Amino acid sequence: GDEVIIPAPYWVSYPEMVALAGGEPVAIVCTAEHGFKLQPADLEKAITPKTKWIILNSPSNPTGAAYSRAELKAITDVLVRHPQVWVMTDDMYEHLVYDDFVFATPAQVEPKLYERTLTVNGVSKAYCMTGWRIGYAGGPAELIKAMSTIQSQSTSNPSSISQWAAVEALSGPQDFIPANNKVFKERRDLVVSMLNQASGIHCPRPEGAFYVYPSCAGTIGKTTPSGKTLVNDEDFVTELLEREGVAVVHGSAFGLGPAFRISYATKTSDLEDACKRIQRFCGDLR
Ligand SMILES: Cc1ncc(COP(=O)(O)O)c(C=O)c1O
Repeated sequence: GDEVIIPAPYWVSYPEMVALAGGEPVAIVCTAEHGFKLQPADLEKAITPKTKWIILNSPSNPTGAAYSRAELKAITDVLVRHPQVWVMTDDMYEHLVYDDFVFATPAQVEPKLYERTLTVNGVSKAYCMTGWRIGYAGGPAELIKAMSTIQSQSTSNPSSISQWAAVEALSGPQDFIPANNKVFKERRDLVVSMLNQASGIHCPRPEGAFYVYPSCAGTIGKTTPSGKTLVNDEDFVTELLEREGVAVVHGSAFGLGPAFRISYATKTSDLEDACKRIQRFCGDLR
């Protein structure tokens, strides 16, 4: 079937969505060494005559990594040379970037890709409207028409009530976004700093979204006080949950381990408590 390139770590739904549509997901692992970002040479190597799409997501769930305009241009330069490859960019975390980072998206960075780019967004994150179930997309008319045909025979439509709420969110005052981002940035910095004080954990500081993706490589092979040896990151998250009541998601679920993902879209006091427990958990390992 058609191949779809998905940089890993990826949002867990992407490979499943591709498989449901009869495509073949092709993961390219993007390591912490490169900020979890796709390297142009690795992309070039992964493209075949069967490659139909690439899915980009910046800022990323699960790593929070975001591509600068120059980093994105290096990716789009490769894609320009392969006209059979379409680009789906999931810009869901567009507004959630910190430290003066400037968001960029493929169709803007490389107009030559405009006619084969589907730009996807939604109101779930920056507008805190997860339950309203509104996403939206911009792309070539033919593609949007085909998407509309499928939707009209499946879920029929997003509710008109939610649609109007989303219109209001997108066209109303936007000043709460920088205010929220200030709090998100403080939480990110708190979580990164506390996790880096946990023994065996290394946590990069990401550009955006509300996730961090620390490595737990330094804990693998160690043993908990109850005698359980941590063989992989799934053991790490299971034992952390059992011993300390802290729920995180293991990195291998997102295509890159040993690591785990923390969402910091929650109360600062809860994050502080959780990070203290993670420090204690790691400190108790032998
Ligand atoms: C990268 C990314 N895309 C899309 C979504 C979908 O969000 P929703 O279904 O709430 O619109 C999420 C939610 O977690 C996400 O992280």
